[in-house]
Amino acid sequence: MLMPRHTDITHGLTQRPARISPKYFYDQQGSQLFEAITRLPEYYPTRTETALMQAHAHSIAGVVGPGRTLIELGAGNCQKARTLCRLVQPACFVGVDISADFLEQAVQGLRDEFPALDARALAGDMTLGVALPEDIPRTGRLVFYPGSSIGNFDPPHALGLLAHMRELIDDDGGLLIGIDLPKDVAVLEAAYDDAAGVTAAFNRNVLTHVNRLIGSDFDVDQWQHRAFFNHQESRIEMHLEAVADSHVRWPGGGRRFEQGERIHTENSYKYPLSVFTAMLARAGFAQAQAWTDERGWFAVVHARP
Ligand code: AVJ
Repeated sequence: MLMPRHTDITHGLTQRPARISPKYFYDQQGSQLFEAITRLPEYYPTRTETALMQAHAHSIAGVVGPGRTLIELGAGNCQKARTLCRLVQPACFVGVDISADFLEQAVQGLRDEFPALDARALAGDMTLGVALPEDIPRTGRLVFYPGSSIGNFDPPHALGLLAHMRELIDDDGGLLIGIDLPKDVAVLEAAYDDAAGVTAAFNRNVLTHVNRLIGSDFDVDQWQHRAFFNHQESRIEMHLEAVADSHVRWPGGGRRFEQGERIHTENSYKYPLSVFTAMLARAGFAQAQAWTDERGWFAVVHARP
């Protein structure tokens, strides 16, 4: 019998309002579009985080130390892993990402640059918790979760993930995590609605991916990109808004969308540093050291049990 697949997608689509998990952004095309986003003039997080890690390279290398087992969640193109590997010279690297082919290529790039590094690619959905292979050393682990990806999860889920990261390490381990901080709304909204329309293309591409996964017939051109800051929840929200009334079908189901109706595709929470360190403490990370840029836009935090 053919098992119904991706029931989470069809379930989300039939909700009111409809939603699609942001993890479905990252097919091959979406991963490339995200890379393009990180280079946009409006998208400050990646370059601010990179500059922070460069500016504080010495202190970061000092607290982390060499010879660690580096575990990066959502490793993507491994560009940040590359920078971190130069800095802290780990013995072992495990990159976890949902986009398997994209990750494998990137990890191969790491092996080329660091021939002594034992580098592995682990394809998987880290939102469900990561099961690491038995032979990954337990001592001296450093979990690396850059880019403010933690912001994609609502606070209870984010707390659960941080607690899971705590379980991945021993008392001698650490967590190096990037978080985007609250700031001027105009700056935030421009970062998620750029002039060149790359974020719009990234948002819409989720429908192409969903069409391929569940066999739906979304007409991508009939959906408009929307991004705005929700003050109440301290998060950027991204939605796709129907340009006209439509009926979307997929094997085993379908639904009507009215003009102006939205599909919620992403949240990107912006935590004040004090709120975030309190979450870390609740997750079992009692000590935290943070580096921020002079504008206070982004923070890189090293946390220890
Ligand atoms: C990869 C989740 C950190 O929220 O800024 C970028 C994704 N979405 N532009 C973010 C994203 C739209 C990004 N994260």
